[in-house]
Amino acid sequence: MFRLITGIPGPSGFGSASTAEQVTQGIDASKLTAIITGGASGIGLETARVLALRNARVIIGARNMEAANEAKQLILQDNEKAKIHIMKLDLASLKSIKSFAQNFIALNLPLNILINNAGIMFCPYGLSEDGFEIQFATNHLGHFYLTNLLLEKIKKTAKSTGIEGRIVNLSSVAHIHTYNRGIKFENINDKRSYCDKRAYGQSKLANILHASELSRRLQAEGASVTVNSVHPGLIMTNLFKYSGVFMKILKFFTCILWKNVPQGAATTCYAALHPSMEGVTGKYLADCNEFKPSTYARDEILAERLWDFSNKIINAAQN
Ligand SMILES: NC(=O)c1ccc[n+]([C@@H]2O[C@H](COP(=O)([O-])OP(=O)(O)OC[C@H]3O[C@@H](n4cnc5c(N)ncnc54)[C@H](OP(=O)(O)O)[C@@H]3O)[C@@H](O)[C@H]2O)c1
Repeated sequence: MFRLITGIPGPSGFGSASTAEQVTQGIDASKLTAIITGGASGIGLETARVLALRNARVIIGARNMEAANEAKQLILQDNEKAKIHIMKLDLASLKSIKSFAQNFIALNLPLNILINNAGIMFCPYGLSEDGFEIQFATNHLGHFYLTNLLLEKIKKTAKSTGIEGRIVNLSSVAHIHTYNRGIKFENINDKRSYCDKRAYGQSKLANILHASELSRRLQAEGASVTVNSVHPGLIMTNLFKYSGVFMKILKFFTCILWKNVPQGAATTCYAALHPSMEGVTGKYLADCNEFKPSTYARDEILAERLWDFSNKIINAAQN
């Protein structure tokens, strides 16, 4: 908390006040291709801008192509050499995710970095196109499925180039505030027990469990791909559109804890690009430093159960 408020750097040399540009200063990413989900706004847009500034080729996956095109133009205004592509991706639709992955693979590009950034928060109860509770579907299931579909490509790229692949899941400190047993496996879509805050916390817990389980699996097979999850900090973005007055009051009383967007994208960019993160996997980062997440987030049995559960319900939805 002291470091968060003062911005004093942690062991990595960076802290809450560091920006995405600062943590990637001097890094040449010209050999790298990255996909960023939800890269048309907020933290994702800044991440895309900074990765492109470091000469990476960046593919923004977005559900709103008009907003994605505006984001692309904005990045190009700042840096006319930016290699930015936009592709349609709706994480609340398994069909859209599959077609995004197929379209990307058809491009025959390498894939070094996957940033699972898109998210929604505190929205009223709703179901995805495939019938899953919308926050769990968008924040976790969609990214879980997307990662599975792109994993072979990431592994092959790492093997053929000798450059480690990196997957970064955007989680949140809100993963602490979840349902009683962590994940509501028995009634994931239940409307009566739905709580918008806990559903968000559950989905962000799932982001960490997904990263740690995938990390263990990749390590077991000796793949040169790391997977980490990050809490970007508190940043006022469109994410808060469902929070209204409550969040404005909270921000007023906690203004000292909030970051701006360039600071909010720093931990993602650090995890995706920084040489100190080479070989670091299965970790949870905040303010560009390793942090210990909640007990549920460190529960390997829960992570394995979530993995099997996610596969099972995705397969069932497709049959
Ligand atoms: N801001 C914070 O304080 C904070 C704190 C902790 C964690 N995070 C995490 O950081 C990530 C980025 O959030 P942000 O603050 O940058 O919010 P944001 O500005 O609202 O960005 C979220 C992005 O996700 C996209 N998205 C939402 N649903 C989607 C779907 N079904 N398919 C494809 N894209 C979808 C949004 O697109 P649309 O514009 O079309 O909705 C938007 O571009 C999220 O995962 C969030 O949970 C943020």
